[in-house]
Amino acid sequence: MEERTRQNVYTAFIGEAKAYFRLLAYAERAEEEEIPQVALLFRAIAEAERVHATRHMDLVKDLVVKDTDTNLLNSFKREQSISENEYPNFIQAAEEDGEKAAAITFTHARDAETYHAKLYERALYDVIKDSTRAYHVCQVCGYVTAKKIPEKCPVCGAPKEKFKTIE
Ligand SMILES: [Fe+2]
Ligand SMILES: [Fe+2]
Repeated sequence: MEERTRQNVYTAFIGEAKAYFRLLAYAERAEEEEIPQVALLFRAIAEAERVHATRHMDLVKDLVVKDTDTNLLNSFKREQSISENEYPNFIQAAEEDGEKAAAITFTHARDAETYHAKLYERALYDVIKDSTRAYHVCQVCGYVTAKKIPEKCPVCGAPKEKFKTIE
């Protein structure tokens, strides 16, 4: 694919992926305002944008998706970099601005990302390839564990009911 078109497809993918989440938030708002038909419309179009995002991603897969070892390594590096660089900067700025809620979500995300990095690292060193274990994801902060669901999330303190199991 020509470079310009490939960049455009990737840009379109990002736009559609963002629209998916934005429209779901709009739907929630419409529900709060008790306009269920509009909520449904936002959900339907969100689903359509998800279809577009998936289709665009399919076209640029060769640009984004490599073999699994490379994907694990890239994901590990990304988690490391975001938890060591981006989030600490975001946290500092939020604290300077007195933005407590943002500082807390950034802190939770930073801490959860370090666990994500560890899980990728273990996968890279082949520790998990022969096992079939469920993962448990904290729906508050994004902490992930392959061990049993903790009584309290070690990152955000959420109770065990807040965990979703991926199996
Ligand atoms: Fe992550
Ligand atoms: Fe959590």
